[in-house]
Amino acid sequence: MNQLLTSIYESKSVQDEKGNIINPFPTATPYEIGTLFDELIKKNNFQRTLEIGMAYGLSTMFICQAHKDKGSGQHIAIDPNQSTEWKSIGLLNIERACLSENFRLFEANSHEVLPQLLTQGEKIDFAFIDGSHHFDYALLDFFYIDKLLKVGGYIAFDDIWMPGIRKVLYFILRNRMYEIVKIRPRSNLRKRIQRYIKRWIQNPLERDSQGIKLLPDNICVIKKIAEESSENRPWNFFKQF
Ligand SMILES: C[S@@+](CC[C@H](N)C(=O)[O-])C[C@H]1O[C@@H](n2cnc3c(N)ncnc32)[C@H](O)[C@@H]1O
Repeated sequence: MNQLLTSIYESKSVQDEKGNIINPFPTATPYEIGTLFDELIKKNNFQRTLEIGMAYGLSTMFICQAHKDKGSGQHIAIDPNQSTEWKSIGLLNIERACLSENFRLFEANSHEVLPQLLTQGEKIDFAFIDGSHHFDYALLDFFYIDKLLKVGGYIAFDDIWMPGIRKVLYFILRNRMYEIVKIRPRSNLRKRIQRYIKRWIQNPLERDSQGIKLLPDNICVIKKIAEESSENRPWNFFKQF
């Protein structure tokens, strides 16, 4: 485990360039999700990873550290607000943790960067979608990431307590060739119950789920099981979601 990451989670603080201390939570990814990414990347030997939404760089550090531990791998982060809203603290953390080598940041909106990556022929094995949490932006993030993602690759969605994010997942799981990856983040029971209650308050009977059962975590990981083609999705295919 990276020493800087350990100290950030212990002290619940990050520092800007001038040494001012800021609490990165609840914006930042919880520790158990970071360690889950570490496990998934190492276990599946994912080489090319991408995340939307870097903020203070905590998820970024977990992913870059996983590549460093494996001895190979490249990570891309996309975030339009790194130097403004987040005072470049994410980037500073990557430098402080000596993880800059295999890392690229695009400081722009995902809907601008993702089509560029596609045009450049980029291919990825794993993506973390944690940028704009509006339904349309998250769906667009998925649309492009799907085109960049290899078959067998994973996409992790954060904040599935939000109805807009769950809607995106229901669309994917009903209409596209993806399946849920059974994960068990080692989060404490109290936090999981709190998140599940939040989800239940938003939509008590999960009326829009069309029978799809999402795990009671705040994160959902899905696996691409086939490339889109006219055989697996005819031109008029549509399932309610
Ligand atoms: C919850 S934070 C990400 C937290 C980060 N993954 C972590 O673990 O610390 C959401 C991030 O999404 C970024 N964001 C918002 N709109 C975006 C967009 N259209 N494209 C890319 N990133 C966006 C924000 O600037 C913010 O940094």
